[in-house]
Amino acid sequence: MKNIWIIANWKSNKTIAEALDWVDNVGPSIPENENLKVGVCPTFSCLSEVKKAITVGNYPLMVGAQDLSPFDAGAYTGEESAFLLKGLIDLSILGHSERRQNFSETDEIITKKVAQALQNNIMPLICIQSQDTPVPKDCRLVAYEPVFAIGTGKADTPENANEVAKVFKQKYGDDLEVIYGGSVNSSNVQKFVSQPDITGVLVGNASLDAGAFLSIIKALEG
Ligand code: 13P
Repeated sequence: MKNIWIIANWKSNKTIAEALDWVDNVGPSIPENENLKVGVCPTFSCLSEVKKAITVGNYPLMVGAQDLSPFDAGAYTGEESAFLLKGLIDLSILGHSERRQNFSETDEIITKKVAQALQNNIMPLICIQSQDTPVPKDCRLVAYEPVFAIGTGKADTPENANEVAKVFKQKYGDDLEVIYGGSVNSSNVQKFVSQPDITGVLVGNASLDAGAFLSIIKALEG
């Protein structure tokens, strides 16, 4: 049976109190299923509190960052290094289009971030925007997120997303897991996940509300 990844990307949202409220609501309702990989990527300011709440509740919920430093720990003011994040997070989103657009992130910088993540046992979740986006070496989980579909309510078609996923698997190996992101909600999630080459979703807006996020998980159960 294939894995199903359902990852919440909160982007720059939620106070610590709001984050903990979400964990209290979502955590107890996640079904225990070996193939279901549910994760949440809060802001750095919430990370340790979210991690603590998940550990105390013993919820089947992975924790991710939305970014990390391309450098080792040291004299890099403002950066969050993988070495310091290790232990707090299981994975990190890297190369999101919002970082490429607003923070001038290049494929070269993303490759350095991936190396830092891997050295510190953090799973990189690479965002690709098109068939031309390179996937750095040793990345086994990528999210296809076409820019036109992000935050617009206009998701790509599941068939087209599957075509892109297929191309990436042909290019980088069949064990590459490809998930889809861009206006995913409880009404369309099943159509994406039932595609043969898509193994989950990365969810922005619809992940912010605990009930909306749970309804995405529920939509896959039925
Ligand atoms: P939306 O689900 O809000 O379209 O965002 C998708 C996204 O960017 C997830 O990383």
